[in-house]
Amino acid sequence: MNSKALRNCITKTDVPDYPEPYRGKVRDVYELGDKKLGIVASDRISAFDHIMKQAIPYKGQILNSLAAFAFDKVDELVATHVIDVPHPNVTIAKKCDPIPIEVVIRACLTGHAARVYKSGKRTLCGVVLPDGMAENQKFGEPILTPATKAEEGHDEDISEKEILEQGIVDENIWQEVREKAFKVFERGQQIANKQGLILVDTKYEFGLYNGEVTLIDEVHTADSSRYFYRDGYEERLKKGEPQKQLSKEFLREWLMDHDFQGKKGETLPDLPDEFRIKVYNRYTELYEKLTGKSFKPTPIDMEKFNGELKKILDRY
Ligand SMILES: Nc1ncnc2c1ncn2[C@@H]1O[C@H](COP(=O)(O)OP(=O)(O)OP(=O)(O)O)[C@@H](O)[C@H]1O
Ligand SMILES: [Mg+2]
Repeated sequence: MNSKALRNCITKTDVPDYPEPYRGKVRDVYELGDKKLGIVASDRISAFDHIMKQAIPYKGQILNSLAAFAFDKVDELVATHVIDVPHPNVTIAKKCDPIPIEVVIRACLTGHAARVYKSGKRTLCGVVLPDGMAENQKFGEPILTPATKAEEGHDEDISEKEILEQGIVDENIWQEVREKAFKVFERGQQIANKQGLILVDTKYEFGLYNGEVTLIDEVHTADSSRYFYRDGYEERLKKGEPQKQLSKEFLREWLMDHDFQGKKGETLPDLPDEFRIKVYNRYTELYEKLTGKSFKPTPIDMEKFNGELKKILDRY
């Protein structure tokens, strides 16, 4: 990692001659016509629903490549939005009508689920949780804990019953979504397991493409999922120690150590260069661990990148 890479992070793209993209927290999404999207994964990183002021070198490439790897592994189980991955930062995707639910599957009592459990509640999104569970313990079977995709701010928990009662998703479509989500999760667990990891929880997004239920956005990446190291998991669980995680959790912890939890009145701290490199190393570690391949960054020159993107998107 050199200072040139730190200076050439993709914080924002502006492809000449293309209409302003939809800018998500991480991706810039270009409309290509013919029901296609050019999705550019930037190096922006978010936590607590805030985009950090500094970006992480090559994070977009790692994320997009990891998603491409995972999409490829599940495409016999579900239709995916991927048409092509012409550059490590870019996915050409089918433009779908998004289903406005975050389909969260959890294998362990971790994160939000653990916080709810600690508060004494024994139901989460309509799912009854057994008594006497320890944080990070595995459920008997993975559970589905959906959330609404809120327009602004935090996503809210919702039960499957409420999704249907409120008519947010048609019943037949929802049945297919939940069935596919569990299958894709199972495959994700197998892949993780082979590499010595535990897929702890993940978030899927689905959309409809010509009426077909299609997996969109990103799959089994560091931004959408949590992984634990399998080695030593049981011992740590028994001792009540924190698990060795591969996820964005360490960024959240760093922010909390710097008095930031995304609440009103708090100031977003600057990420020092050494920390940005650390985050890069963590993302690389997850990529290499999960895919079994080494990560070779494609250098970016921000003076030229928008022009290169134009050439790529023009092909579709
Ligand atoms: N194939 C697809 N068809 C339609 N929309 C998609 C597709 N794939 C991803 N998206 C949407 O594109 C956006 C990707 O951007 P990004 O992941 O940065 O957004 P986000 O900040 O996570 O979410 P949002 O902007 O929705 O709050 C998301 O809104 C996602 O739902
Ligand atoms: Mg997203």
